[in-house]
Order: sequence, then C-alpha cells, then structure tokens
Amino acid sequence: MSEIDLVPLHKELARFTPLGRSGLLPALHAAQKIYGWLPQEVAAEVARSLRVPLADVHGVIEFYSLFYNEQVGRNFIRVCTDQACALKGADNLLGRLCKHYDVEPGQTTEDLSLTIERSPCLGLCEQAPVALVDDDAQTNIAPDFKSYDLGIPRSLVYGSMRKLTANCGNGTTTLAKYGEYSAYKKALSMTPEAVIAETDKASGLVGRGGAAFPTGIKWGGAAKIQADQKYVVCNADESEPGTFKDRVLLLDDPHRTIEGMCIAAYAIGATKGYIYIRAEYPYILPVLENALVEARSAGYLGSHFDIEIRVGAGAYICGEETALFESIEGKRGFPRVKPPFPTTNGLFDKPTVINNVETLCNVPLIISIGSAEYRKIGTEKSPGPKLFCVSGDVAKPGLYEVPFGVTLREMLKMAGGVAGKKQLKAVLFGGAAGAFATSAHLDVKLTFEDLRAAGLPLGSGVIMVFDETRDLRDALKRLGKFFAHESCGKCYPCQMGTQRQMEILDRVANGNVLPGDFVRLEDVGWTMTDASLCGLGQTAASAVLSAMKLWPELFVEESKVENKKVSRVSKVSKAAKKAVKKDVSKVTKVSKVSKAKSIKVKKIVKAIVKKNRKASTNKK
Ligand SMILES: Cc1cc2nc3c(=O)[nH]c(=O)nc-3n(C[C@H](O)[C@H](O)[C@H](O)COP(=O)(O)O)c2cc1C
Ligand code: SF4
Ligand code: FES
Repeated sequence: MSEIDLVPLHKELARFTPLGRSGLLPALHAAQKIYGWLPQEVAAEVARSLRVPLADVHGVIEFYSLFYNEQVGRNFIRVCTDQACALKGADNLLGRLCKHYDVEPGQTTEDLSLTIERSPCLGLCEQAPVALVDDDAQTNIAPDFKSYDLGIPRSLVYGSMRKLTANCGNGTTTLAKYGEYSAYKKALSMTPEAVIAETDKASGLVGRGGAAFPTGIKWGGAAKIQADQKYVVCNADESEPGTFKDRVLLLDDPHRTIEGMCIAAYAIGATKGYIYIRAEYPYILPVLENALVEARSAGYLGSHFDIEIRVGAGAYICGEETALFESIEGKRGFPRVKPPFPTTNGLFDKPTVINNVETLCNVPLIISIGSAEYRKIGTEKSPGPKLFCVSGDVAKPGLYEVPFGVTLREMLKMAGGVAGKKQLKAVLFGGAAGAFATSAHLDVKLTFEDLRAAGLPLGSGVIMVFDETRDLRDALKRLGKFFAHESCGKCYPCQMGTQRQMEILDRVANGNVLPGDFVRLEDVGWTMTDASLCGLGQTAASAVLSAMKLWPELFVEESKVENKKVSRVSKVSKAAKKAVKKDVSKVTKVSKVSKAKSIKVKKIVKAIVKKNRKASTNKK
C-alpha cells in the first residue's frame, strides 16, 4: 500500500480536472507544492485525474528542470551562475555555499532540509550576484554572504524618459494608483480595424520579444479569421540571459500589460487570454493575481474577456511562441513547425496573438497619445521608447528607458561608464542569442536598422558590459553550456550542434584547443544557424561566431602544457602537430607585443584558418 497520503492531492486536482490535459502543468505545480517532489504515485494520480497517459506525464516531468521525480530538499537555494552573475563572483558564492552545507551543486543535504542548485539566469542580472531562496529573490550577495537583499527584488529604473516605466521604481502600482483603463475605453470607442491600424504602420510598433515582428500585421492576421474562439497570450517567459525588463514591468505596473491585452482582445475578437510567466519569478505571481482581481472587479475583465495565468517550469525554449502554446496545452515544450502561424493556428489550434510584455505595454501608450504623437519618439524606422537591460561591468546597472536612436556611447554614459574606470572590452548585445560589440561600435545608434547594419541584434534589449580584464573564453564557455542544456532536442542540427559547440568552447576555455577546432566551431555554428528548426538553434552560435570574427586569436591559443595534451590526444600526423605548434608559437609571440600589433595576430590566425580549411577540403 502507498505510504503517500493522496487526500490533499485529490482536493487540489479537483480544480484542474475540468481543464483536462491543459491543466497538467498547474496540477504538477500544485502536487509538487504538497509533496516537495513528484513521486510515482502522485504522477499516476495526476494522470488518472486529468486523463493523460502516464507516460506523457512522466515525459512532461522530465522535460522541465523545475519538476523533480526524485526526492529533493524541503528548501531550495538556486544560485545563478549565468554570465552577469559570473562576472560578480557567482561561482565562488556557490562553492562557499555548497562547502558550508557539505553538498555538491544539484545535491540535497542528508537531512533533506536543503537542495542547492546552479541556475540559469534568474532575470535579476542588474543586482548580481543573485539567488532564489525558495520564493524570495536574494540579490547583491556579498562574497562572504554577510550582506544581501532578500524578498521582492528592487526595481532600478533609469534612462532619459519614463513612458513605459512611468509607474516603475516605487513598488507595485495598484489599480487605484494606475487609474482607469482610459486607453482601453478609448479603444472601445474606435472600430477594431482602427485600433489595429494604430498598432500597425501608423505607429510602426514591432515586437519587443526578440523577433521584431510588426505587431499590427499579427493582430490584423488574427482579426480577419472567423473562429469560435481566439486567444491573446502574453509572453512573460523572459528567460534570455541578461533580460529583466518584463520582470520590472509586471511587478511594478501589472495593469499596463493587462490593459494592453484587453485592447488586443478587442481588436482581434478574443475572449480568452493567458499570461505565461516563468517559474523563476514566483514573487510576481501574487501581484499579477491581485491585479487580475482588481481588473475584474472594475469590469475590465469578465465574461467578454478574461485572463488566466500559467506558470512555466524552467525551460528557456518555452519562450518560443509555439513551444509556449504546447506548454499551456500540457505538453513538453517542443516548438512546432511553421507555417501554420499562430495567427491562424495558435493555442489549441485557434487564431492567437502572442506578444511580449513590453510590446503590450506600448499599446495603451499608442492608443492614448495617438500614433502621430508616438512617432515623435525614436527614429522614423524605429519609433517609440525602448527598454534596455544594462548589466555587467557598468557603474550603474539597471533598466534604462530611452527613445530609439541614442548611441551605445550615450547609453553607457547614462549607466556611469565602465565600472572602476576600466576600459571597455566588449558588450554582449541581445543576450545569449546575441552578438558581441567592441568600442568600435560605441557610436552605433540603438535602433533596429543601425544595429542590423552593424551586425548586432537588438534581441530583448540586453546590454551586458565586459571590462578589459575579463576573459571572454569563460563567457563563451557559459554560452555553450547554456544552449546545450536548453536545446529541446527535437531537431538534429541543434541537438548535436549545441553539444559539439559546448565541447569545443570548453576546450577553448581550458586551453585545450585541438587542431581544426576553429573550422569545426564555425561549421557547427553555420549548420545550426541554417538548418535548425526554431530560433533557439538558429541563434545558438551567433554570439560565438561574432566573437570568432572579433577575436580569432582566442580560439587557437594553447599553453605549452596543453600542447602536450594535444600531442597525446589528437591523432593528427607528426607533421600536422608540428605545424600547429609553429602556428601557435607565432600567435603567442605576437600576442605579447603591443595592442597595435594585434591586427597582425588576426591576420596570422586568418591564414591558419584558411590553411586548415583548405586542408580539410582537400581531405574530403
Ligand atoms: C528560444 C526562444 C526563446 C524566446 N523567449 C522569449 C521570451 O522569453 N519572451 C518573449 O516575449 N519572446 C520570446 N521569444 C520570441 C517569441 O517566440 C515571440 O516571437 C514573441 O513572444 C512575440 O512577441 P512580440 O511580437 O511582442 O515580440 C523567444 C524565441 C525563441 C526562439
Ligand atoms: S532548434 Fe533546438 S530548441 Fe529548436 S526545435 Fe530544434 S532542437 Fe529544439
Ligand atoms: S540573474 Fe544572473 S545572469 Fe541574470
């Protein structure tokens, strides 16, 4: 007989049974809250109640990092060791913590009181290093753990304008403070077509979730389809490393997003909405739930249109729109093949508009001031305000609201410049799926068109700064690990490519570069970019490839010690080994001379790469 008392579970499951399979993620969250993990009997009970095959329930539990099918601690500390936190000593913090509790990362203490985990970005990068202690954010942690902030994280909001962030920085804005949904009321006095026209070419609004797709085209597409049910989905998954703008918008000003969703629903004729929020933002949940209650009691939500919150479970891929739909539907977050697109076949195969939080926050602004006035902000091709998530080695990290068109130099000046008066080495634009820039890019304007021309993606607005002392090989190694971990494995180029990329970047970081690694890394990168099914694989190499262009010497250097390893490990001929050593010694010799001569290094490296490439082509 089972030792597990299933009575409390039955009570909880009653809430989710009417949802069928789509209730699977909320049911598993509720079950895990009761038992601390998801034992076999619990999984079986969830499967039975929701009428989902047990194998599928196990598949879902295994897919999401934050569901556990083995016993874990009653409490959790998740230490972020992603890039912005790594720059502030996160690895040391994690090491000290684990030593104190006598566990390794990922392990649970013997008395089952605590599990300590390494976590990907927790969306608190401007207050690094950080951890999530159960449901509380622990930020600005001192190296000895003696000082930190614990609880709901602060919002550090700066910049040269406050349109989207007008209500941010002073705690949560209640409905009483927010005031009536005047933009929604104005929209209701317009035709749906007129509302869509405002969010289309009139305002020039494009999505802020990373893909920069024109919002009005999406809305118009869903509006013109006849269907018994349409959906509006708010993408609050915000898992791109270095991104934290949606956290601030939702925590401090939830009604702006809800009002944006109401306007979208009216424009396309939807009666149901979802906010899909990442599980790593547990402190936002009560704020959002309360805001929905307020909006319902004021009559903005109700039978005509209502919103449900869905919580992810630790899978970066679920930010991809179709993977997100799968997740809401109670499945593993595998992206769908497109077309068909969400506007015709989205959530539950119905016409769906999915928008990022920041995109939705632009909507009430556009409707209330009108598109002509909105267009006065920013540039002709990139109108409107933009939020940038500034983190890393800057004096004043935080969320910056500026009009599109300020330069990177101006942005860094606002952020107090490089911390400690050091020189700038690099800026990672757009997050892990982004690209590196250098001081040569300081005068690039932060607009879609200027960044595109400079080969830099705007992505989700990440500006992560690295000072001159930083070893970018460590940053690249972390990127490699991140993508290898987050690839969903559905398509081969990404599944294999992210693994191979990680292995090579590991070798690069450890000084174990093998002959041909440069070419191999490029080939893996290009293959993933060209042949992957979804945006994750298509961008998993973009930062790496940009670094290879900027600093090719990083990818061929070898220490003398490591050269020995190469000789032992690699199966290349004696002559080839000699050639590599000669190449490397050339590079090392030259790299010791002045900065001006680094150009020479790059030329030599290019020649090596060319030679290697030729050799490998000949072999084929
Ligand atoms: C791997 C991956 C992760 C993504 N994560 C997010 C995310 O966390 N938030 C988001 O709004 N969009 C994310 N996107 C983009 C969405 O697929 C989609 O384009 C976006 O939600 C559309 O909203 P927008 O038009 O308002 O930008 C992601 C895309 C990919 C490929
Ligand atoms: S590209 Fe990667 S994340 Fe996207 S479907 Fe393929 S394996 Fe999954
Ligand atoms: S919170 Fe650590 S990198 Fe974002």
